[in-house]
Amino acid sequence: VQTLRIALVGFGVVGQSLAKLFLLKEQEFANVYGMKPNVICIIDRNGLAMDDKGLNLRGILEKKRRTGTVGRSKGEKPNAVIIKSTDADVLVETTPTNFKSGEPGLSHIKAAFQAKMSVVTANKGPLAVAFQALMELARHNNVFLRFSGAVGGGTPILDFGKSCSRGDTLIGIEGILNSTTNFILTNMERQNLSFEEALKSAQKHGYAEADPSLDIDGFDSAVKLVIIVNYLTKRAFTVRDVKITGIREVSIADVQRARDKGKAIRLIASANERLSVEPRLIDRDDPMCVSGPYNAVKFFCKNSGEKVIVGKGAGGMETASSIIRDMLEIRDLLAGRGLT
Ligand SMILES: NC(=O)c1ccc[n+]([C@@H]2O[C@H](COP(=O)([O-])OP(=O)(O)OC[C@H]3O[C@@H](n4cnc5c(N)ncnc54)[C@H](OP(=O)(O)O)[C@@H]3O)[C@@H](O)[C@H]2O)c1
Repeated sequence: VQTLRIALVGFGVVGQSLAKLFLLKEQEFANVYGMKPNVICIIDRNGLAMDDKGLNLRGILEKKRRTGTVGRSKGEKPNAVIIKSTDADVLVETTPTNFKSGEPGLSHIKAAFQAKMSVVTANKGPLAVAFQALMELARHNNVFLRFSGAVGGGTPILDFGKSCSRGDTLIGIEGILNSTTNFILTNMERQNLSFEEALKSAQKHGYAEADPSLDIDGFDSAVKLVIIVNYLTKRAFTVRDVKITGIREVSIADVQRARDKGKAIRLIASANERLSVEPRLIDRDDPMCVSGPYNAVKFFCKNSGEKVIVGKGAGGMETASSIIRDMLEIRDLLAGRGLT
């Protein structure tokens, strides 16, 4: 059984779900995958837990629950310095998303690369700000960067797209990439709510942030679209290349008219000759026409035609499970390279 040494930065919903999955699946990881994840460092906003032999995750989850932090104060030491001081194979980055600066995740990922660690992240911020630079830095340092949890939570949209296009030519992508807006549009449709009423309901159910503008104005979908396209086609788009229209202007009358025609309004991110995010009419029986907090992405390939993947777009356990998928891939890549 091969040990993978892990430094985990960010210990909120996703980070704690990952720790729980490590505990739950310890035996399965060893028996099925021949892997023993060994978490040697956890950092949250104010605290630090570190043990070179491996941390007691049960104890740390309990401590976080009781005290709000994972361990002793990290004082003035920047996270980047702490990350570089660990001897981890992989950094798992699950701090909050910041689309403007990419921080603090961006500095964490760069520090890991400089220390020759691979990185798995669920954080879209650093990818939105510096996708190409980070991919290049990973290559330069001979390590790997994976981020399947950043697009679609637990739904393996990036892996699926990669499989679809292997040996074929990807000619287009269309998708519902934001669960919040899909929840809102579905509720407008099912309960005859106005946009404002449906937004309030989404906030009440925990599907929308107090400031939901990044979701409803389409920016979150655009970032995910750019990540998918750049990853699958090795292009260098940024969010500025996406023409974005959100769902604020969608009225009950629009939704009802669509329903009467056997159609539905969904916020569709698409990439063909150009990149766009906009509310569009789609057929109710289109396999991409999902309802509620779901994502659906359609890949158009030259020879094999259209393929659709559908799944929940977020969730702590779902996203943690994507992180594990990425870690297994990195473990295999490192092993194939003969470095571990
Ligand atoms: N939740 C989901 O369903 C989901 C799905 C897909 C992607 N994501 C992405 O995954 C990331 C994590 O999401 P989440 O829901 O787990 O967020 P969360 O519950 O808010 O947790 C964020 C964690 O990051 C820590 N943190 C904040 N600033 C930090 C800093 N400067 N240094 C070290 N740690 C810091 C926080 O520390 P404290 O605990 O001390 O405050 C907290 O533990 C986000 O980027 C999110 O967009 C989440």
